[in-house]
Amino acid sequence: MVPPPPLRVLADARRLAETGGVRFELELDGVARQAFAVRWRGGIHAFVNSCRHEARELDFGDARFFDETCDALVCCHHGARYEPATGRCVSGPCAGARLTPLALELRGSELWCLGRLPQSPG
Ligand code: FES
Repeated sequence: MVPPPPLRVLADARRLAETGGVRFELELDGVARQAFAVRWRGGIHAFVNSCRHEARELDFGDARFFDETCDALVCCHHGARYEPATGRCVSGPCAGARLTPLALELRGSELWCLGRLPQSPG
């Protein structure tokens, strides 16, 4: 499996506000996939944008992934709640499943995605 080339997600990651999100597309195993990154508690985390319940995108296309409590990524379809740092589903119809995490790298102020984390499942 050949890793995808690094993809620049943001020219200036400092502009990603706390609980803010950004959508992007990357290629995994030759297939274009929707993905997103969020800032949460100062860190930036990225996942394939595919809920583990019905493989639908978590957001409505607006890059909003948190509800008002800002303590979980929430799927807009049936309310699955995922830990923002790990992608593990803590409640909802797919509790115990996990979003596919992506590797990020800061290069100066630029945010780059390096593809799937080595230990992550499809
Ligand atoms: S598709 Fe996400 S909870 Fe059902």
